[in-house]
Amino acid sequence: MKRIEQGVTRPAQIAVEIDGARVMVHPGETVAVAVLASASQRFRDDRSGAARGMFCNMGTCSECTVWAAVGTSPWRRLRGCLVPVEPSLRISTRDPESRP
Ligand code: FES
Repeated sequence: MKRIEQGVTRPAQIAVEIDGARVMVHPGETVAVAVLASASQRFRDDRSGAARGMFCNMGTCSECTVWAAVGTSPWRRLRGCLVPVEPSLRISTRDPESRP
């Protein structure tokens, strides 16, 4: 992922966790941006196991659905393109309840 750098001022980056890996993002960016900034750039899997990616970036298609939790709060499903990142955010691209 490449961010526009010229003429843009952003707040200092914060760390979020995606599938156990640390990813740096700017406050105000969305969960979807965090996933795109990760090494895998992978959102959820479909029923055949194929990776899905974001499509509409406006909350309509649900292709960016992931699970997220802040700190020790319970996991919840959300559309990543609609939710801003926050400190202590953990993101999972698979249902955390079904992980071995
Ligand atoms: S990319 Fe379509 S709802 Fe998020």
